[in-house]
Amino acid sequence: MTADVFGPARLGPVELRNRVIKAATFEGMTPHGLVTDELIEFHLRPARGGVGMTTVAYCATSPEGRTDRHQIWMRPEVLPGLRRLADAVHAEGAAVSAQIGHAGPVANPVSNRLPALGPSRRLSPLGMRMINAASAGDLDRITQAHARAARTARDAGFDAVELHFGHNYLVSSFLSAKLNRRGDRFGGSLTNRARLALDIARAVRGAVGGQLAIIAKLNMDDGVPGGFWLDESIQVARWLEADGSVDALELTAGSSLLNPMYLFTGDAPVREFAAQFPRPARLAIQLAGSRFLRAYPYQEAYLLDRARQFRAALNLPLILLGGITRKQTMDLAMAEGFAFVAMARALLREPGLLHRIRSDPEARSLCIHCNKCMPTIYRGTHCVLASPRTT
Ligand SMILES: Cc1cc2nc3c(=O)[nH]c(=O)nc-3n(C[C@H](O)[C@H](O)[C@H](O)COP(=O)(O)O)c2cc1C
Repeated sequence: MTADVFGPARLGPVELRNRVIKAATFEGMTPHGLVTDELIEFHLRPARGGVGMTTVAYCATSPEGRTDRHQIWMRPEVLPGLRRLADAVHAEGAAVSAQIGHAGPVANPVSNRLPALGPSRRLSPLGMRMINAASAGDLDRITQAHARAARTARDAGFDAVELHFGHNYLVSSFLSAKLNRRGDRFGGSLTNRARLALDIARAVRGAVGGQLAIIAKLNMDDGVPGGFWLDESIQVARWLEADGSVDALELTAGSSLLNPMYLFTGDAPVREFAAQFPRPARLAIQLAGSRFLRAYPYQEAYLLDRARQFRAALNLPLILLGGITRKQTMDLAMAEGFAFVAMARALLREPGLLHRIRSDPEARSLCIHCNKCMPTIYRGTHCVLASPRTT
């Protein structure tokens, strides 16, 4: 029987009031790497708007794994703020997830004042510094840091953690044969490239398994020639399933390092993106911007064709993501066997969209996927079309 997207559903050990998840959209509201009232308010909006669960974007597991130094990294000082956030979201009837991960080559070493780590040494396009190859010791430390971060989320009363295995962040860069040129047990064969993902998922399961839901946000493909592609990703998903280390997979695509617009599709906001940087970088981005921010045509449920292949290959609960804006698409996702849908931009545009959809199943999102929300991540993420912070 096809599930009702607005009916309650189990996700690992937790029950959500419905099957709609607000996907991680980095909030840019943690200037000292700590929870602020603004961040709590940001998550109360979709919670009041009726989602089953909201996702606190990108909580780094270690300081060099932040994309920039204004981000939360999971240390003891964050616990009281996270607890306040979780309590506030729960009071609205929604659950809350923390996206935990290590940015790897996507980290900004200049902002962090720490070298970025990747599978192999290469030049960082962010700040023109070298990215260092992570040692086996670094990888062990980072794996343990994920387990600690998951315990912190649990202690703060979160319902889920989402492991960032996408977008060429650290784990995803290890999965990519293009970025991972290592000759040790973490490079070469897919078994070796997937070792970090599997180790982290197992460590997190060992730390918090059965106490909160564990989701992995996994790239289906990087959108980069020679990068990670469906065949390999389906195999990694099968290994995660066989390990029993995750409760669900959220399927994504793209590379924040090499092909960011592939994540989103829609217009490339080159001018608005360039405007976030100081003058010399701004000019360079304006000139090179349309190559780096290469636009892809937007389509409702643009990841569905790829995600279907995972549905066919796996029994794990899957979360469909990417261009979901309508009841009809949610129903299609349920009919095709996806357990949840995740929505990002449509809920930034209109956090109350689900209420509108419930009362009118034909309701259409106001999001026009202009992607001008994207460059706002540096100063408080919002939809530029919505009245500021009031929707
Ligand atoms: C402003 C903005 C910030 C984002 N930040 C994150 C992030 O921190 N972590 C992540 O995994 N994805 C991030 N994403 C990607 C979304 O989670 C999602 O994968 C993508 O927007 C596609 O979903 P949609 O079509 O519903 O918007 C971000 C997207 C937007 C628009």
